[in-house]
Amino acid sequence: MTPLVPPPEVKPRYVRAMFAGTARRYDLMNRLMTFGRDRAWRRLVVQACALPPGGRLLDVATGTGDIALEALRLRHDVRVIGADFTHEMMRIAQSKDRDGRIPFVEADALRLPFADHTFDAACSGFLMRNVVDVAAAFAEQRRVVRPGGRVVCLEITRPNTPIWRDLFRLYFFHFVPRIMALASSHRRAYAYLPASTLTFPRPPELKAIMEGVGLRNVTYRVLMLGTIAIHVGEV
Ligand SMILES: C[S@@+](CC[C@H](N)C(=O)[O-])C[C@H]1O[C@@H](n2cnc3c(N)ncnc32)[C@H](O)[C@@H]1O
Repeated sequence: MTPLVPPPEVKPRYVRAMFAGTARRYDLMNRLMTFGRDRAWRRLVVQACALPPGGRLLDVATGTGDIALEALRLRHDVRVIGADFTHEMMRIAQSKDRDGRIPFVEADALRLPFADHTFDAACSGFLMRNVVDVAAAFAEQRRVVRPGGRVVCLEITRPNTPIWRDLFRLYFFHFVPRIMALASSHRRAYAYLPASTLTFPRPPELKAIMEGVGLRNVTYRVLMLGTIAIHVGEV
């Protein structure tokens, strides 16, 4: 049986299969799991990208495209590209982008198919828990963003205070798996999501990882009772 968090050599295949099996109900699951707050977080991510007029944004692990679409809702003047390695997720994204304004590109976050300094900002939502090398994923985003541009990361995190820590465990290990059971045909996904949050670096450690790949002035804010973090770094 596959362990809750698969070993690095099989993780990419496992993650892709899980999101392929979840794609059709991913948006519904997101709304339920976040009590509808995810849209507000995506808005904060876009704002944190601080795009200049006419700027270019790369949404890494775009999934069903909600950050990319939010960027165009907030900023009509910018150009956005979505990249992800799960075809099934981006098919949903494409169906939501009715005017076809966003190019969706199949790509691995650890090997982005873009030249150095192509974008004014790169962002990711709920990607980093899924990659085998978090530093390498940040380094790739740093590489494709121009000097002075931003790298922004939205991710689940664990609260530090005792009561919220217990509530978080209750929520992630009991509520979330039940929601996942409604949403995914990939049974092991129910256990993977909570398990992947337990091993993921806490906000100060994630900040250090970003600094370690050369991102400057890294800051973060924690939302939703310490369960969500948005990190911002400059290239
Ligand atoms: C939880 S979803 C997040 C989707 C979207 N960013 C959002 O905010 O809703 C995670 C996405 O990361 C993608 N992903 C995971 N690892 C990846 C990798 N190494 N390269 C590209 N995409 C990856 C998955 O295919 C999936 O679509």
